[in-house]
Amino acid sequence: MDSNNSIKQRKNGARQGQEPSSLKGQAFNKTDAVKKSTSSSSAWSSVLQGFLLFVVFLFLASYLITDTWFWGYKGKYLNYHHWVPRKQLVFTQQELAQYDGTDPTKNIYLAVKGEVFDVTAGRPYYAKGGGYGFFSGRDASRAYSTGCFQTHLTHDLRGLTKDQLGAVDGWANFYRNHPKYFKVGTVILDPIDPHSPIPEDCNKPVAAKPSS
Ligand code: HEM
Repeated sequence: MDSNNSIKQRKNGARQGQEPSSLKGQAFNKTDAVKKSTSSSSAWSSVLQGFLLFVVFLFLASYLITDTWFWGYKGKYLNYHHWVPRKQLVFTQQELAQYDGTDPTKNIYLAVKGEVFDVTAGRPYYAKGGGYGFFSGRDASRAYSTGCFQTHLTHDLRGLTKDQLGAVDGWANFYRNHPKYFKVGTVILDPIDPHSPIPEDCNKPVAAKPSS
């Protein structure tokens, strides 16, 4: 009987828009919880606002002090290609040769020690007729260390000194860390015939003409 009465009371209370006395405490707790969560979320949003303002302040201060938005930083992380991973391509040498800068509608690729880089952003250097156009569409690693831009356009690194090999690695790093260039894949290089002659150094002093 008792439980029937309390059900009736609850129904009546609900009908009249009143809360049963036993639920009043719960309702109070709910309001309290809502208030608490609202105040904690507004605290978070003020922290976020403060942080965003601080970041904007840093950019503006950088621009005013260094004339650049990133405190003079010009490295690879300003290039979105370093943030967005892309599928790396595998080229044959013939495929790579199609990106040698002769076609103005195509990207320009070059390779150093088998790594292929997109250097389209440097078109003035790497297009046909550009100062370094001979590097485009191929792996001419040897020429990067010797400067023999006619006879060393090859990936044959035999006979180079430690320093010269270091110079080639230096250029690979240059392209890897450049703010505008980025790696697109690798090239499968023909093996070098170990019996073929090592390319001659173009910087060798020319033998003096024998005086007659
Ligand atoms: C082993 C010898 C050399 C190699 C492999 C080499 C390679 C290069 C490459 C790949 C670039 C293009 C850089 C880019 O993509 O931003 C470049 C630019 C340049 N190189 Fe060379 N170079 C050599 C020697 C020289 C020499 C001896 C000089 C000067 C007499 C020179 C003067 C320049 C200049 C002025 C630029 C343009 C730089 C710029 O405007 O940012 N290079 N070099």
